Amino acid sequence: MAVLRFRALVLTVCLVCFYAPTPSSSASSGDFLHCLSASIPSKLIFTQSSPSFTSVLAAYIRNPRFSTPGTVRPLCIVRPTNASHAQATVLCGRRHGVRVRVRSGGHDYEGLSYRSVQPETFALVDLANLRSVRVDRARATAWVDSGATVGELYYAVTKASGDRLAFPAGLCPTIGVGGHFSGGAFGLLLRKYGIAVDHVIDAVLVDAQGRLLDKKAMGREVFWAIRGGGGESFGIVLSWRVRLVPVPPKVASFIVPVSVNDGAVDVLTKWQEVGPALPDDLFIRVIVTNGWASFESLYLGTCDALLPVMRGRFPELGMNRSHCREMSWAESVLYVCVGSGQPIPVTDLLNRTTSMDTSYKVASDYVRRAIPRDVWAEIFGWLAKPDPGIMIVDPYGGAISAVPEAVTPFPHRGGVLYNIYYMNSWAAGNDGEPNVRWIRDLYAFMAPYVSKNPREAYFNYRDLDLGRNVVVGNVSSYVVGKVWGEKYFKGNYKRLALAKGKIDPNDYFRNEQSIPPLVPVSLISNPVPDSAIRRKVSCCERENLEFYW
Ligand SMILES: Cc1cc2nc3c(=O)[nH]c(=O)nc-3n(C[C@H](O)[C@H](O)[C@H](O)COP(=O)(O)OP(=O)(O)OC[C@H]3O[C@@H](n4cnc5c(N)ncnc54)[C@H](O)[C@@H]3O)c2cc1C
Ligand SMILES: *[C@@H]1O[C@H](CO)[C@@H](O)[C@H](O)[C@H]1NC(C)=O
Ligand SMILES: *[C@@H]1O[C@H](CO)[C@@H](O)[C@H](O)[C@H]1NC(C)=O
Ligand SMILES: *[C@@H]1O[C@H](CO)[C@@H](O)[C@H](O)[C@H]1NC(C)=O
Ligand SMILES: *[C@@H]1O[C@H](CO)[C@@H](O)[C@H](O)[C@H]1NC(C)=O
Repeated sequence: MAVLRFRALVLTVCLVCFYAPTPSSSASSGDFLHCLSASIPSKLIFTQSSPSFTSVLAAYIRNPRFSTPGTVRPLCIVRPTNASHAQATVLCGRRHGVRVRVRSGGHDYEGLSYRSVQPETFALVDLANLRSVRVDRARATAWVDSGATVGELYYAVTKASGDRLAFPAGLCPTIGVGGHFSGGAFGLLLRKYGIAVDHVIDAVLVDAQGRLLDKKAMGREVFWAIRGGGGESFGIVLSWRVRLVPVPPKVASFIVPVSVNDGAVDVLTKWQEVGPALPDDLFIRVIVTNGWASFESLYLGTCDALLPVMRGRFPELGMNRSHCREMSWAESVLYVCVGSGQPIPVTDLLNRTTSMDTSYKVASDYVRRAIPRDVWAEIFGWLAKPDPGIMIVDPYGGAISAVPEAVTPFPHRGGVLYNIYYMNSWAAGNDGEPNVRWIRDLYAFMAPYVSKNPREAYFNYRDLDLGRNVVVGNVSSYVVGKVWGEKYFKGNYKRLALAKGKIDPNDYFRNEQSIPPLVPVSLISNPVPDSAIRRKVSCCERENLEFYW
C-alpha cells in the first residue's frame, strides 16, 4: 500500500516537473556576466571563451569521469579573492536566474561541485584563491578558509604547534576543506576525537540573499546544518573556525598486510569485534582487496606501549616490533595515506595536484552487526572478479560514537561498528561500465549484512545511485529527497529541510542531492496558484506532511 502510494506520488511529481520553469535563458546569461563584471575584477572571471577556462576548470577536477566532452560545464568560473566577490556572484545569480555551484577541493565523488547532471546554466564559484589558515596556538584554535586543503591545514597546525596539535579530519591531504567539513569529515583520529564537525566552533557563510553571516547571524539551525548536512544546500561557506586537538609529539603507525592464504578471512572476522572496542588511542582500519587485507593503524603513543596492547587484544594479526614506526602525527597522515611503508616528507602535505589517470565510482555502508565469516569469504570472491575493486573499513566506537545522533547532521554514531567504503576504478578514457556494474552488484549483495531502515550511507561518499532531487514547481521535493536524505542523515533529514526552509526557501542553492526546503504551511504568505502544485499539496496533506508544500 505504502509502496503504491509512493509510486503514484513519483508519477505526479514527474508530471509536475515537466512544468518547472527553467532557471535561465541565454538572454539572462549575458546580463548575468555583465552584472558580474560590474563588481568583480575581470581577471577573476573565466567565461567559456577565455583561453584559460579549460585549465581553470580542470585544476580541481579529481575524478576524470566528469571531465569528458559530454560533461555539462559551467557558463563561467569565478575565483573570488575576497568575500565580496562571492556575495556579488550570488546577487547577480539571483537577479538573472543563474544558479551557482561551489567548489573547494573538487573531490566530490559525483563531481557535483563543478558539473550538472542535466543540462543547466550555472556559474562555478571556485574557492582556490581563498585558502588561508590562521592558527592560534595559545587558544588551540584555527580559522581555515574553505579553499584550503586538509593537508595545508595539517601542515600549518603541526608547524605552529611544534607537532603538539592536530585536527581530526580526512586522511588524504588534497581533500578540500569546504566540501569535506560541510559533509562530516572523518579520519584516523575519529575514535579519539570524533570528526571535523564535532570541532567546528564558528563559520562564515554567504547566503542566498548575498549576506555574509557568522555563527550568530546565521542562527542556530543553519549553523547546525552546515556541520554535516552539506554546504551546497545552504550557501557558500567561506571560512571555518575549529578547535584543535592535542597529540603526542611522536605517534606510532603500522601497516600489516595479511593474505587470504595466511588467514585474512579469520583476522578480518575477528577485527570486526576488536577494532571498534579498542582503547580510543588506537585506530586500525583495513583495506580489503583481491586476496589481501591490509591493516593500517595510528596509535597515539609509542611502539613500546602499543605492542602489549596488540598482543593482548589482537594477537591474531601477528603484529610485531618490525611493523611499528614512530613519527610525528603529520608524518603519519602521509605514511598511511600513501601506504608505501616509506616515510614521506611533511612538505608533501602541501601538494595540491592529483593524478588524473583513473576514474572511479564509490558507494558506502554502515555495519551494526558483525558480518559472518563465510560471508567475508564470499566477499573475497567478489574482490577477485575481473575489474576488482576495493573496500576500506573504518572502525567506529570511541569519540565518534559517543555523540548523540542529533547533535550534528552526521547521524552514524552509537551502535555503528564500522563504515564500509566501496570503490572501483578504471583507466580514464574507458567508459567504466563493467566497473560501475560491479559496484552496484556488490552493493546489492551486501544488503542483508549492513544497516537497514534506513540503509545508512556517508554523505561525503556521494552516490547518485541513492537517488536524485526532483523539482516540483520551483523547489526540490522534500518527499522525493527523503529516499536518499534519510540514508545520509537518518532522523536529521527533516530538521535539515526546515533549516533550508529558513535560509533558502526558494531553493536557490540546489544540486542533485541538495536538501529540499521545508516551509511550514502557516508561513507561506502566497500559496502557489498553479493547479499542478495545488494537487501536490493535497496529496501530501493526506500523508500528514504538515510542512510540505
Ligand atoms: C582521494 C579522496 C580521499 C578522501 N578521503 C576522505 C576521508 O579520509 N574522510 C572523509 O570523510 N572523506 C574523504 N573523502 C570524501 C570527501 O570528504 C568529499 O569528497 C568532500 O566533499 C570533498 O570536499 P571538496 O571540497 O574537496 O569537494 P568539492 O567537490 O569541492 O565539494 C563537494 C560538495 O560540497 C560543496 N561545497 C564545496 N565547497 C563548499 C563551500 N565552501 N560551501 C558550500 N558548499 C561547498 C560542493 O558544491 C559539492 O556539492 C575523500 C575523497 C577523495 C576523492
Ligand atoms: C575585495 O576586492 C575588491 C576588488 O574587487 C576591493 O574593492 C574590496 O575592497 C575588497 N574587499 C575587502 C574586504 O578586502
Ligand atoms: C614480524 O612478523 C613478520 C611477519 O608479518 C615476520 O616476517 C617477522 O620475522 C616478525 N619479526 C619479528 C621480530 O618477530
Ligand atoms: C608531491 O609532489 C611531488 C612532486 O610532484 C611528488 O614527487 C610526490 O610524490 C607528491 N607527494 C604526494 C604525497 O602525493
Ligand atoms: C519561482 O521562481 C520564480 C523565478 O525565480 C519567482 O519569480 C517566483 O516567485 C517563484 N515562486 C515561488 C513560489 O517561489
